[in-house]
Amino acid sequence: MANNKQGSGNQAQWSNRFVFIMAAVGSAVGLGNIWKFPYITGENGGGAFVLVYLACIAIIGLPLMMSEIMLGRRGAKSPIGSMAVVAAQEHRHKSWVGVGIIATLAAFLILSFYSVIAGWTMPYIISAVSGDFNDIAAADSGKLFDRLLASPGELLLWHSIFMGLTVWVSAGGVRHGLERAVTKLMPALFVLLIILVGYASTTGHFSEAVRFLFTPDFSALTAEAILIALGHAFFTLSLASGAMMAYGAYLPKQVPIARTAVVIALMDTCVALLAGLAIFPIVFAHGLAPSEGPGLIFVTLPVAFGQMPGGSFFAGLFFVLLLFAAWTSSISMLESLVGYLHEKGISRAKAAIGGGLAAWLVGITTLLSLNLWSDFTPLDSMAGFEGKTLFDLYDYLTANIMMPLVALLIAIFAGWKMAPAHSAAELGGWHRWWLPMIRYISPIAVLVVFFFNLK
Ligand code: PFF
Repeated sequence: MANNKQGSGNQAQWSNRFVFIMAAVGSAVGLGNIWKFPYITGENGGGAFVLVYLACIAIIGLPLMMSEIMLGRRGAKSPIGSMAVVAAQEHRHKSWVGVGIIATLAAFLILSFYSVIAGWTMPYIISAVSGDFNDIAAADSGKLFDRLLASPGELLLWHSIFMGLTVWVSAGGVRHGLERAVTKLMPALFVLLIILVGYASTTGHFSEAVRFLFTPDFSALTAEAILIALGHAFFTLSLASGAMMAYGAYLPKQVPIARTAVVIALMDTCVALLAGLAIFPIVFAHGLAPSEGPGLIFVTLPVAFGQMPGGSFFAGLFFVLLLFAAWTSSISMLESLVGYLHEKGISRAKAAIGGGLAAWLVGITTLLSLNLWSDFTPLDSMAGFEGKTLFDLYDYLTANIMMPLVALLIAIFAGWKMAPAHSAAELGGWHRWWLPMIRYISPIAVLVVFFFNLK
């Protein structure tokens, strides 16, 4: 990795465009694609939801990703630091730094529950290689999953290991180690997903799944589903939470931002759709409910692997890769905070340990909400929040409130507060498309979706 110093900041940089793409894809591709996308699609009725999600990626996510990478590169600091630098460059009020602060907080909160879910992959790796999935029936697979969720001690163990892994890489600097890992692991995950889709096509329910995913039935679409699709577009692309800004800070000047963002968004979307195509045929073949919820892949995939030749091996490999995909995402979540604390003079190691420990503590409340505190639904008296556990609330607060808010503010800043000559210098020929999108389409779309949901 080149250690040359460039631009207004003082950060070392990615070696080249490919490495940046892989790191950004490493951040983007994670539990959001393989765990969350299929289950929220199942809960929200399929096709119409998928269409809205794709539209959100193209018309809101993509211009926003370009903006974030651009702001990160111009500021060349942590998201908080970069917002301060760029606001000063543009002679704008200091309070724009608040955007960086909310984004960093959102990433922190996401990390706290993401680590709990990512932890689930580890017992699944063990079960896979011990042959527990061989010929497993769907009902037994469900029981296996329920047993895991019912055990706070076990969840705590895996949550702690996963957070430890995240802190470990983060402490040493994200670019160190991450470069080599992502360039191999992401392609492997992709190949394995294609194998799974191949298997799913033999279940006899492939076309039913394709119909479910791609035939829009707008009568099944609610205003809340649209907000969920929007929030998920941000979540899956690691937007509105500092990660892309933080990684953009290490991007060499000569790399074209717009084309690079298109590649990242396309790869992320492909992985999500492949995950859907792998999972729903199995759901239908075994009479499982698409609206199963957060356990969807953990219940369905073991059934598929259990019937495949070499299933133990493929299952083990799949959950290992899922673990790595989650890991390369969680590292990027911690980066905003660690980068900021480091700028304040704290060593990376101390910042990573402190930030990780705090997220780990909050994560414990998530894991308890899956069992001992499953009846603790503190906002029952508020319309729209009835029956939501702490985990549900963290998810809702980040994806449906904080991220749309940060996205809106970034769109306003990049589109209206930054001199178009400056953004044009960063985005080249794409600027003509980007500017109207970020000025009008993205903020209006976010506002409309948001206000339709105010109860
Ligand atoms: N994009 C990640 C996923 O889809 O799993 C989640 C994520 C990573 C969200 C980084 C936010 C973030 F800052």
